[in-house]
Amino acid sequence: MSGQTTTPDIKTPKTDTPEKTGTPKKKVFVKTFGCQMNVYDTERMKDLIKGDYSETDEPDDADLVILNTCHIREKAAEKVYSDLGRLKANKTKRQAEGKATTIAVTGCVAQAEGKEILRRAPVVDLVVGPQSYQNLPKLLDQSQKGERVAAEFDVADKFKALKGNRTITGPSAFVTVQEGCDKFCAFCVVPYTRGAEVSRPVEAIVEEVRALVQHGVREVNLLGQNVNAFHGQGPDGNSWTLARLIRHLAKIDRLDRLRFTTSHPRDMDDDLIAAHGDTPKLMPYLHLPIQSGSDAILKAMNRKHTAAEYRQMIDDLRQARPDIALSSDFIVGFPGESDQDFEDTMQLVRDVTFAMAYSFKYSERPGTPAAEKHDQVPEAVKSERLQRLQALLREQTLAFNHEQIGKTLPVLFEKPGRKPGQMQGRSPYLQSVYVDGPEDLKGEIVDVEITGATLNSLQGHLVR
Ligand code: 5AD
Ligand code: SF4
Repeated sequence: MSGQTTTPDIKTPKTDTPEKTGTPKKKVFVKTFGCQMNVYDTERMKDLIKGDYSETDEPDDADLVILNTCHIREKAAEKVYSDLGRLKANKTKRQAEGKATTIAVTGCVAQAEGKEILRRAPVVDLVVGPQSYQNLPKLLDQSQKGERVAAEFDVADKFKALKGNRTITGPSAFVTVQEGCDKFCAFCVVPYTRGAEVSRPVEAIVEEVRALVQHGVREVNLLGQNVNAFHGQGPDGNSWTLARLIRHLAKIDRLDRLRFTTSHPRDMDDDLIAAHGDTPKLMPYLHLPIQSGSDAILKAMNRKHTAAEYRQMIDDLRQARPDIALSSDFIVGFPGESDQDFEDTMQLVRDVTFAMAYSFKYSERPGTPAAEKHDQVPEAVKSERLQRLQALLREQTLAFNHEQIGKTLPVLFEKPGRKPGQMQGRSPYLQSVYVDGPEDLKGEIVDVEITGATLNSLQGHLVR
């Protein structure tokens, strides 16, 4: 530990009225696509402009519309263009009322397509990739002077530029510790859109986490595209692993829960597995994508591990932390995937059993090696496989949720539930839990006896 660190300028929403006088007159509407990294980036962008813009849920009311985009699958990228079509009508209508609208495309589509977006969608004023949004206020000024701007890829230290000034929205917060990916899975655009792996220095992370905790955060989810490849510089000058970082953060008082996402099996070292057993604050839930249960497909995907190695890793994790719940990502219909390859995936799912999982049809991404392959799987076959896999995964999620009935779980309460008098929190296994209870439960970890379960949530009552 490096002694006392200074607290960055972190604000809770209550004290969050802008430094300028009154509420900002201008309004921003933000739509976020894709992964947790984008959710985090959206929050940080809102922080950067909160002196000038307050948020609205209505694109019609917005002086500034930000689409924070995802490029990972074709569907996600195409959605952006259909949204831009709708926004064009908004912009024209507002123009007729004498109101200007700035439309910004940020995120991975912005990074991948850059100026092409300005050409294809004349309604767009500003294009900013995930490595450049720290300059958003300056870029907005530029664009509002009438210039259409595509921000250059900015290799300046984004993490440094974004230091401090975070708005806290609840007792659970994401903290980015690593960005980018060097794995080059054959299907994936991330190494091209988010660039090479960069880890934040340990002290900067500790400083941010301490400040969050001082403002009531009880759970931190360490975020990175390939988070377990973390190798940030420690206070001792050496490069630290994620396990070391976790054990270090676990010493912070009033920080009760730690999580991390997303991991690659190749970077799951023994020490990180052991940390699940020896660090009680590390929650017993791990998202560890495998993508396929077939060795031939894993090889073609350039995943650099076998199904047997993954199974062994899961055994080791369960040895270290018997109640650990697992989640994963799967792709069906990768080029060359045979019926047998797919059956191997189904068998792996049956053998491992997952509490939760995401599954996708393979989507050809321009510029990735897999897009060049000639043995693409027909759409109908992909659909049929996805349906079967999702049915199995749903069955496992439901079974896992049902297993909780009768148990008492510590729940971190985050916000009011959908019904009046209801509160929503998270179990250690990341399940949403609903109880009847007062609003001052927010930020508390309270035992809940689980009385009911569905595919998406648990219900229970407070034990206290
Ligand atoms: N097609 C389908 N799914 C993909 N993913 C990444 N790239 C593709 C693609 N081209 C999935 C992987 C990854 C998750 C974030 O998205 O399963 O783990
Ligand atoms: Fe994409 Fe593979 Fe990197 Fe994950 S590990 S971001 S799937 S290249």
